[in-house]
Amino acid sequence: MAEAFNTLELPDDRAQRYRLLEREIASVLEGEPNAVARMASVVAMLATAFAPRFFWTGFYLVDAHAPSPQLVVGPYQGTLGCLRITFGKGVCGTAAQTRTVQIVPDVHAFPGHIACDGRSRSEIVVPWIDGSGTLRGVLDVDSTEPAAFDTVDAAALQRILALI
Ligand code: SME
Repeated sequence: MAEAFNTLELPDDRAQRYRLLEREIASVLEGEPNAVARMASVVAMLATAFAPRFFWTGFYLVDAHAPSPQLVVGPYQGTLGCLRITFGKGVCGTAAQTRTVQIVPDVHAFPGHIACDGRSRSEIVVPWIDGSGTLRGVLDVDSTEPAAFDTVDAAALQRILALI
């Protein structure tokens, strides 16, 4: 299954690529109850399908044990990420606090952007809200290209989060 995905021909059109990827993700996750395994597999498939455009792809998860609202890094693919982000700080913390998708065409223009890797130029962060309305964390994707993300990515990433 994994080898089949890694060698799969993916369409050039981004929306079509996401559609195919969604089907593959649903099939890979089928029958796997472990949350870490599901998150790690989604991140690997996203990073592979959109390499090299997706430079950093991963989760920041709500840490229920922290004394104040905080995200802690989860499964990711990319260079070393910051371990913890306070709600309201940076792009991830803003997405978590406001529960809204953040599409940042130029990270240098985003007040308080947290630069884990100086090569990141643009970013999208999508809140992960489960079926009961609880915020579980955020999915963060960074690119070395400016303005790499738009509403096509936002809608697809929201649909992919719903598969987890
Ligand atoms: N840039 C993010 C921090 C996470 S890293 O990019 C992996 C932010 O401002 O929230």
